[in-house]
Amino acid sequence: MTKRLEGKVAIVTGSGRGIGESIARILAGEGAAVLVNDVEKEVAEAAAEELKKLNVNVAVSAGIPEGDVTNELSCKGMVEKAKSELGGLHILINNAGTTKDKVIHKMDDQMWKLVLDVNLKGLFLMTKAVYPHFKKQRYGKIVNLSSMAGLGSNLGQANYATSKAAVISLTKSTAMELAPYNVCVNAIAPGIIDTRLTRAMPEEKWNQITAAIPMGIGAPENVARVVLSLCSEDFDYVTGQLIVVSGGLII
Ligand SMILES: NC(=O)c1ccc[n+]([C@@H]2O[C@H](COP(=O)([O-])OP(=O)(O)OC[C@H]3O[C@@H](n4cnc5c(N)ncnc54)[C@H](O)[C@@H]3O)[C@@H](O)[C@H]2O)c1
Repeated sequence: MTKRLEGKVAIVTGSGRGIGESIARILAGEGAAVLVNDVEKEVAEAAAEELKKLNVNVAVSAGIPEGDVTNELSCKGMVEKAKSELGGLHILINNAGTTKDKVIHKMDDQMWKLVLDVNLKGLFLMTKAVYPHFKKQRYGKIVNLSSMAGLGSNLGQANYATSKAAVISLTKSTAMELAPYNVCVNAIAPGIIDTRLTRAMPEEKWNQITAAIPMGIGAPENVARVVLSLCSEDFDYVTGQLIVVSGGLII
């Protein structure tokens, strides 16, 4: 059977672990060549080694500064590397993200800046870097990782929730600009997914939150499979949308 992404090349930011790693694996499983990106070099290289076992071409942009999505030159470098080492570029998954939680009066500028830089500026810079290429080839798929925190908020996450709400607006602006060029731009808002990011919360809070999810805690694959659908031709006429992947946390 033909694989759904045969001949396609994808960049997945923050794909050394967690949801990004799962997205990279699921896209590669459908035949896509993947550029693995992460600011942490070792996890990116380990993830890339695993992907190679799926018999797809793999490139790596990792570490500082090469793998840092907050650095404009690095973002441009990733696009050039995908084109030169993997033969093109068709899919961008803006997944890299971080948290630095504190209530507002205890949050210093560095905590605000880091989260806004990685979650929002990084996404803008990667989008800007692929934009002319997608426009020229009249094809592209961009999927941005927002969060349910971007629809409401969470206590102590003013920086994170602000960044994720802005990701929804940026997704819509990008979708409007690129729709005439056959480029689809959508966002996903996961609920609570079992990764390092969420395991950082205290156990009591974790138990309380996960007990409230009608379908139970989510796995990275639950998000990755929706990303795959958005990247497939089934979704060629869907753009500017937000898909909530929360196991019924919001109904
Ligand atoms: N886990 C959840 O429940 C959940 C819920 C909603 C949204 N999200 C979003 O999904 C995405 C992935 O989250 P996760 O849970 O897999 O997190 P994670 O912490 O497990 O993985 C994120 C990866 O991004 C990388 N990264 C951080 N800063 C970077 C930078 N400047 N450049 C390149 N890479 C960088 C990290 O090194 C890490 O490997 C994030 O955008 C997150 O906000 C996660």
